Amino acid sequence: MTAKIIDGKAVAKRMRAEIAEDVKKLQEQYGVTPGLATVLVGDNPASQSYVRMKQRACEKVGITSFGHKLPADASQEEVEALVRQLNEDPNVHGILVQLPLPKHLDEERVLSLISLHKDVDGFHPINIGRLAMKGREPLFIPCTPYGAMVLLKEAGAQIEGANAVVLGRSNIVGMPMAMLLIHANATVTVCHSRTRDLPAVTRQADILIAAVGRPEMVKADWVKPGAYVIDVGSNKVDDPSSEKGYRWVGDVAFDEVKEVAGAITPSPGGVGPMTITMLLKNTLRGAEMVARGEV
Ligand code: GUN
Repeated sequence: MTAKIIDGKAVAKRMRAEIAEDVKKLQEQYGVTPGLATVLVGDNPASQSYVRMKQRACEKVGITSFGHKLPADASQEEVEALVRQLNEDPNVHGILVQLPLPKHLDEERVLSLISLHKDVDGFHPINIGRLAMKGREPLFIPCTPYGAMVLLKEAGAQIEGANAVVLGRSNIVGMPMAMLLIHANATVTVCHSRTRDLPAVTRQADILIAAVGRPEMVKADWVKPGAYVIDVGSNKVDDPSSEKGYRWVGDVAFDEVKEVAGAITPSPGGVGPMTITMLLKNTLRGAEMVARGEV
């Protein structure tokens, strides 16, 4: 049996059209245009490219983007001063500090300075703390795991009561993903580099989330027949046969796993387009909260 392919690109396209509509409605009703401020420190090429993609995506749905760049040797004080200024700016409804920050900067201090109601990445310690607590809700959900949850629901996964296994425990994906699945009443196992007999653990998963950053690590015999497999990985690998000399692959060996799984996201074309979509949705939500006087 070949798995159902979960088309993240198509879901993202549909959601972005809905977001564009809602942006228009917000302008008509309240005269408010959502604004996203991006903060890029240094010249990491991957970060530059992500930020550019985020800015372009904003423009396409009518969200104003305010790009801020600081040099790689910017001081902690400079970064903090910029965040404070953006917190005060009424045209900015979301603040995104692109990670990773250069090593000399204190990431936690920067993230905890962002106003809770502008924390569209959902990385503020209070938003993460709320996500970790039973019966509490964060103001914003981190974008990548949020997008992965949307795709699981789109694919018709029964999350409640399912055995979910998350490969990876990063602050950006693995940990918040595990917490979201717990909120949705799954039974969750988080695996990492010290986990013993990984394939035996992942084979128990009705829902398997791969977020480790290892090209095509998850093989067919790691996967329970019929499982929902969400591949968060995006890895650049050498490929002399391609024109560019490289290609992008996920953390899952797609061609073999699709013969076992019930549903699977490709990478590229799965979770990737959803991450930015959820950022747009969070920014719209930030602007709606301000327009309706909720914050
Ligand atoms: N770096 C990698 N992913 C992300 C993300 O989702 N948000 C931010 N701010 N930085 C990132």
